[in-house]
Amino acid sequence: MDGRSGRTGERGPRPPFPPRLRGMRGGILALAMAGLMLPAAPAAADHIDPEQLFANVCGFCHEDGGRRAGKGPQLMCTTRSDAFLRNRIKRGKPGRMPAFGWLDDAAIGEIIAYIRSLGPCPPPDEGTTP
Ligand code: HEC
Repeated sequence: MDGRSGRTGERGPRPPFPPRLRGMRGGILALAMAGLMLPAAPAAADHIDPEQLFANVCGFCHEDGGRRAGKGPQLMCTTRSDAFLRNRIKRGKPGRMPAFGWLDDAAIGEIIAYIRSLGPCPPPDEGTTP
């Protein structure tokens, strides 16, 4: 016994700063970015996204997704029949609108449904309801 209570300074070296906060932040950021960059599910070959198709193929002339006239007329709130729309899309209008005969009937049907979904539109029978 030499009277020394042996404090041997056993608290090893402390890490200079809390472990790797910066690394964690990076990880979270990377996760968030991965979430943002998740690719939209690619459209199956037999299904089109009519809104996307319209924006890509028709929006050049039918502006704002068909809501406004551009080189072509406004399509939103059209009073044309489905048959008329289908025919115009298929055959176009010489000198004014290209024909889209390469779109199959189902795709054209979806585009027509898309056009009809735009709105709000005044009720077509305004004034005639009892
Ligand atoms: C190069 C420009 C152009 C492109 C691209 C185009 N259109 Fe047109 N579209 C026109 C023009 C111009 C008219 C008016 C034709 C006329 O004089 O009757 C028209 C007319 C129409 C009409 C008839 C509207 C009405 O009430 O008379 C429909 C429906 C239509 N387009 C749908 C489409 C769809 C769907 C697409 C894409 C698949 C498309 N158009 C792409 C120019 C275009």
